[in-house]
Amino acid sequence: MNRRDFLRNSSWLAGAAALSATGFSNLALGHEATSPAQEYAKAFAQAIKHNPKLKGWQGLSQDIPALKVNWQGKLPAELVGKRLYRNGPGRQQLGDQRYSHWFDGDGFVSQYQLGAEGMTHSGKFVRTRKFELESAAGRFLYNGAGSHVAHPRGLKGPESINTANIALLPVENELWAMWEAAMPYRLAQDDLTTLGQVSFSNELEGIPFSAHPHRDQNGSIWNIGDLANLGKAGFVLYQLSAKGELLRCKLIDSPRRSYVHDFAVTDTHLVIYLPPLMAGANGGTFIESFDWQPQQGGVLLVIDKNNLEVTRQIPCESGFVFHFGACWRQGRELVLNLCWYDNADVMIKRMGDIIGELTVKKETPSMATQLVIDLDRGTVKRENVGIAMEFPQQDERVAAMPARYQFGVTMASNTQVERSEYNAISRLDLRSGKLESYQYGQGVMAEEPLFVPKAGGGEGAGYLVHTSLDYLRGETSVNVLDSERLADGPVARASLPYYLPLGFHGALV
Ligand SMILES: [Fe+2]
Repeated sequence: MNRRDFLRNSSWLAGAAALSATGFSNLALGHEATSPAQEYAKAFAQAIKHNPKLKGWQGLSQDIPALKVNWQGKLPAELVGKRLYRNGPGRQQLGDQRYSHWFDGDGFVSQYQLGAEGMTHSGKFVRTRKFELESAAGRFLYNGAGSHVAHPRGLKGPESINTANIALLPVENELWAMWEAAMPYRLAQDDLTTLGQVSFSNELEGIPFSAHPHRDQNGSIWNIGDLANLGKAGFVLYQLSAKGELLRCKLIDSPRRSYVHDFAVTDTHLVIYLPPLMAGANGGTFIESFDWQPQQGGVLLVIDKNNLEVTRQIPCESGFVFHFGACWRQGRELVLNLCWYDNADVMIKRMGDIIGELTVKKETPSMATQLVIDLDRGTVKRENVGIAMEFPQQDERVAAMPARYQFGVTMASNTQVERSEYNAISRLDLRSGKLESYQYGQGVMAEEPLFVPKAGGGEGAGYLVHTSLDYLRGETSVNVLDSERLADGPVARASLPYYLPLGFHGALV
C-alpha cells in the first residue's frame, strides 16, 4: 500500500463515511400518513394479477430450502460438481410497504449445485445490518437508493442501507456479496451463511467498494469505490491479492460526481468512464438526485496501474455505461468493449419504471460498443458494433489479451423493444461483428451467461451457464449451452417448480 498517500487521506475517508453531507445521507424524510410505499404495495398486488412479467420483480419473503430437480439433457463433465451462485434484489416488500425501485430490494443469493443427475437449488437472504434491523422491526426503516418509505429513519451514510444485492466475488472459501456504495458482506460458499462484513482497515469502514472487481492476468483483484455515494468527487482504487488481502489503496480526484458502476482493466491501465449524469443535482433519493446533462460530455479517467496516478483525462461522447466486457492494450492503444446507452434513462427512469409504474416499458437498449483510446494523443474513438447487448462476459483465459469473443444477453431485434425481449444468449465475434444466438420463446427473460472453458478447447470454446425466468409458466431454470453451438439451444436444462426474482450477477465456483 502507498502508506503515505493512504494516511494522508484516511482521516478524510473515515469522516466522509460517517458524516457525508450530500450523498446517501441527504435523502428526503417523509412524514406522510400513507407512504408511496404503502400505496405501491396495493397497486402491485393488483397489477401482477394481469401482468405476469411482474413476477420477475415480485420478490421473496424468506429463505428457500434445498430442492433437487433433474436435468433435461446431459450436464457436460466440465460442470459436474460446480456451483452457480446468483445475487439480486430479493425482498421488495415488508409488511404493507413495497419498494418502488428495483435496486432497493435486499440481497438474496441463490446456490445451484450442479450434479450429474440433477441440480439442487437453495437460497438465502444476506444478513446485512439493514436486513436484520428491518426484519426485527417488521417494516422498512430507511429510504432506499430510489424508493421512499413511510416514516424513514435518517441515514448515517450509505452503510445504513447496504443491501449487498448486486454481485458475488469468490474469495478463498467465501463469496463476497457486493453492493457498490459500501463494503461487501462475506458468505460461506457451502451454505450461504453470512459470516460478517469485509474489513480492510478502520479507515475504510463504510467506504464504497464497487460490485465489479476484476481479476487481472497476475491474479490481482482490482476495484474502485465511487465516492459520489458519499457526496464527494473522487474514487478509491483498490488492489487486492488473489486471497482478498488489501495490497494497495489510493484516493484519486474526479472532475465530477456522477454514477460509475464498472470500469476497465488492462495489463497496464485502469479506465473509468464518467457519464454526464450529475449526482446531487436534484433533491430526493440518491437516484432522484441525478441530472442528465449531455452537453457536458463524458470523461475517461486513464489510470496507470504502477503508481495509481491518473495519467489522462480524455473528453468522450455523452453516454451511459453499466458494464465493460473484453478490454486489452495493443501497443499504445487501449481497446475497451462495453455496453453503451445513448442516455441515462435506464438508470434514472427505466429501472424504477419497471415496477414503479407497474409496466415494462419499451427502452433504448445498450449497444455493444468499442472505445479505442490513443494513450499518446489522449483521444478516443467510439464504434457502435450495432448489436443490442448487456451483461457482457468473456473467456477469462484471455483476460486483458485481444479477445475474439464476447458473450452476453441480447434482444430479439435491434429496434426499440420491451425489456422482456432480453430473451437470447449470444456470442459476438469482436473481429467480424457476427452474432450467434439462441433465442428463448415468448415469456422468457434470459440472465447473465457465465463462461466455463472446455477442457483443451481454444478461446471461446466452452459452455455458457445462465438462469432464465419463464414468467408465463412461473418457473426459473438453469440452462447450459455449448458456446460453439449456441443455436442448438441448451445441452442441459433444469427447471424449478417456482420462480425467483430477476437478479443482476453471479459466479461459478
Ligand atoms: Fe453490474
